[in-house]
Amino acid sequence: MKGIVLAGGLGTRLYPLTKITNKHLLPIYDKPMIYYPIQTLVNAGIKEIMIVTGGNNAGDFLKLLGNGSDFGLKHLNFTYQAREGGIAEALGLCEYFAEGEKIAVMLGDNIIEKNIKTAVSRFKKRKEGAMIFLKKVKNPGEYGVAEVAGGKVINIVEKPRKPRSNLAVVGIYMYDNRVFDIVKTLKPSGRGELEITDVNNAYIKEGLMIFEMLRGGWADAGESIDSYNDTINFVRRRGANKK
Ligand code: DAU
Repeated sequence: MKGIVLAGGLGTRLYPLTKITNKHLLPIYDKPMIYYPIQTLVNAGIKEIMIVTGGNNAGDFLKLLGNGSDFGLKHLNFTYQAREGGIAEALGLCEYFAEGEKIAVMLGDNIIEKNIKTAVSRFKKRKEGAMIFLKKVKNPGEYGVAEVAGGKVINIVEKPRKPRSNLAVVGIYMYDNRVFDIVKTLKPSGRGELEITDVNNAYIKEGLMIFEMLRGGWADAGESIDSYNDTINFVRRRGANKK
């Protein structure tokens, strides 16, 4: 299974911190933000990783990460998203990298406390489909929100005004290789982006989506200046990527 970290986009919600650098290069306690999702994938046993970046300062990712030696990797792959076309558009750029294998995708601004090794092993054994993680939150309207019935996710709505549950979709997704065909069928949403929620709903419609509740803490550092600072405090107090 291969891994992908999505670090494109302009990070406008963290402006002016992102005026002269990329959001994913900002510090979260003692490391740059992008270190955390890379470490999550590495701890799950994934050795081949693609970083999708975009916007300004893309070259700084290469300077910072090199060939991934800080993570015990021999090599890292990089690609560039030319515009902020959405999470699913960024994922679509990785088709040739995946080479038919299953993939684990993590958003570059998501940080988790515990490891996802068991879930990754569970998904590896499945023939096909997709897997997501859900987490109960106080502010579901800021996220993709899942409705669960009969032990299955039956629908996800992106940032709903009236959330039908408090179950947020975490920014870690596992897919079979058909995900790239699904991305090609997507139309831009109201905010002009190809939405990862539309990809997930396509798997749900086919009955091929499984989920787990995420163990331990989770933070989305890119949501607002407050969430960025809350994430730093969370990592300082509780740590991240525990084995
Ligand atoms: O954090 C979890 C949430 O992430 C999910 O619950 C939502 O369903 C999902 O849509 C996403 O929502 P956000 O509004 O937080 O996504 P954001 O625009 O902040 O993008 C998250 C990361 O994805 C960002 O750190 C970099 C990457 N990205 C984003 C866009 C729009 C790209 O690589 N390219 C892009 O064009």
